[in-house]
Amino acid sequence: MDPTRVGVIGSGAVGRALAAGFAAHGHEVTIGTRAPEENDDLQAWAAQHDRVAIGTFAGAAEAGEIVVLAPRGTAVEAAIQTAGPQHFAGKVVIDATNPLAPDPATGGPGLAVGHTDSGGEIAQRALPDARVVKAFNTVNNALMVDPSLPGGPHPMFIAGDDDAAKQAVAELLADVGWKAFDVGGIEQSRQLESLVLLWVAIGRARGAYDHAFTLVTPSS
Ligand SMILES: NC(=O)c1ccc[n+]([C@@H]2O[C@H](COP(=O)([O-])OP(=O)(O)OC[C@H]3O[C@@H](n4cnc5c(N)ncnc54)[C@H](OP(=O)(O)O)[C@@H]3O)[C@@H](O)[C@H]2O)c1
Repeated sequence: MDPTRVGVIGSGAVGRALAAGFAAHGHEVTIGTRAPEENDDLQAWAAQHDRVAIGTFAGAAEAGEIVVLAPRGTAVEAAIQTAGPQHFAGKVVIDATNPLAPDPATGGPGLAVGHTDSGGEIAQRALPDARVVKAFNTVNNALMVDPSLPGGPHPMFIAGDDDAAKQAVAELLADVGWKAFDVGGIEQSRQLESLVLLWVAIGRARGAYDHAFTLVTPSS
């Protein structure tokens, strides 16, 4: 993909991994945090990354031609309201979040919404003028950009209602070492988000969290 401007809403491990990764691939990135002037740790981090500026959530959303949602999963609506939904209008929005909440039954994470709704659908409803594509939510942040995995590029499952937006995300994914696999409309976020619970269960069984899903078919 030609160099573009990417706004990243969220300054945690995912926001930083994607911001640094997209910048390393030539894009101009603004990473958003709620109180930039108070976030000394993020300022120190950004000082070590060319082409990454720090802004508010609104500043990052406004700056990006493509905007990434990477706040805490149950805070997506709040983050969008803080950023200003008008700053997303007409844009491709990548939703990398998972609406995780504690599940006492497993002692691990569960989903705050699922089966009949999803974080991806919540984001799309909150941004009716934007084109939301679920992506990156099924892999560890350490593998999101240029993953060191044998036999790649591996599939990155994506979902969304707008084909052109999914094509743009597929191009971005190809640049960072993934092959997009389109599983359907934004409602398929229900499946992609629940896949993360399996990813966590596998991690607990392995005692390591450096795995990712792939797809095997008779012709692969
Ligand atoms: N960690 C992973 O490897 C991984 C992999 C795939 C998907 N995910 C998903 O990606 C998302 C981000 O995960 P993460 O580990 O990077 O960070 P996180 O700790 O889940 O979230 C950190 C970000 O959320 C923002 N935030 C927290 N509470 C908020 C609120 N009430 N309103 C608005 N924003 C709020 C923080 O804002 P400030 O910057 O202002 O503090 C910060 O930018 C999550 O949904 C997670 O499930 C994570």
